[in-house]
Amino acid sequence: MSRKLRLAINTGGGDAPGLNAVLRAVTLTALNKGFEVIGIQKGYLGLLDTKYLVPLTAESVRGITHLGGSILGTNNRGNPLAIRVVEGGTERFVDVSDQAVSNFRRLGLDGLIAVGGDGSLKIAAGLAKKGIPIIGVPKTIDNDLAATYETFGFETAVATATDAIDKLHSTAESHERVMVVELMGRYCGWIALYSGISGSADVILIPEIPFDIQKVCDKVMARELAGRHFSIVVCAEGAAPQGGNVATLGEEVAGQEIQLGGIAAKVAAGIAACTGKETRSLVLGHLQRGGMPTSSDRLLSLRYGAAAVRLAEEGRWGTMVAYDPPVMTAVPLEEAVASVKYVPLDSDVVQTARDLGISFGD
Ligand code: F6P
Repeated sequence: MSRKLRLAINTGGGDAPGLNAVLRAVTLTALNKGFEVIGIQKGYLGLLDTKYLVPLTAESVRGITHLGGSILGTNNRGNPLAIRVVEGGTERFVDVSDQAVSNFRRLGLDGLIAVGGDGSLKIAAGLAKKGIPIIGVPKTIDNDLAATYETFGFETAVATATDAIDKLHSTAESHERVMVVELMGRYCGWIALYSGISGSADVILIPEIPFDIQKVCDKVMARELAGRHFSIVVCAEGAAPQGGNVATLGEEVAGQEIQLGGIAAKVAAGIAACTGKETRSLVLGHLQRGGMPTSSDRLLSLRYGAAAVRLAEEGRWGTMVAYDPPVMTAVPLEEAVASVKYVPLDSDVVQTARDLGISFGD
């Protein structure tokens, strides 16, 4: 019989639909094995301040599978390996991970289940090197982690984006306008590609295929000539023109990811200038991270959570649960955060879009 484990769990980075389902699966699976589960609130901050620790029970995870957000809260700013401190107007980054490790030991924890995207899993890999036994669970609507087939939250974000594109059709058509919608995804075009095809976009711009604005305008004008006086352009936030840069918002802050945004407005201005058509842009933004997870995302999240506890029971620390359909498997954490999963240009999905006559602006 295996030893009774005392597990901690946190949710770090941007939220994604399905986080609560993971928390429920981890808690119930652990309790059913006779383990104990402590929730760490606010990402990694609870490892630095014990007021952020809460016991997770069957009661605390009741009725949460379908809820968006995270009952533990999340945070994409509190990295114990580089905490931002501002003193006398000067900013510096301090490594307080030793304090996190000693708190972890003092609490008598056997392991941490770290649910996070690329950034949070890199922190997990760093803390694992410092001696914290960690199992990672991949989370991001961006679906950009190479070590797993699909992250939970992605499908829900695609469904939300598809719904938005559907709604844009009627207003675009009645006003005979071009509508340009900007979607999340950071440097990968998964959300834009999947929702753009599902929502019958006319143009899809993704980071993996730098675009030529003239080609985008050619598509809009070809539709015009064919009697289709409106067009829908789906634009990933990380899309960039050939030879140009990604659009960003605000100043770059050391230790933080630069905020992407603004490309849809630029594309809309370019289309209006070269086609003369009335063009509007919108940014769907954090709506893509909110709301109820789809049933597939719920199932995926529950499977990730249960698999994480099984790995903990087997003592396979320093790994991340990976979905390798049809099975859940494990990959070393270091390997899991080593590469980004870009949309493969020779994929069937990209080919399908091209076969349907959707332009990538190339
Ligand atoms: O990684 C998830 C994500 O939603 C990206 O698609 C987006 O670029 C970023 O997070 C936005 O982050 P924030 O919540 O800090 O605005």
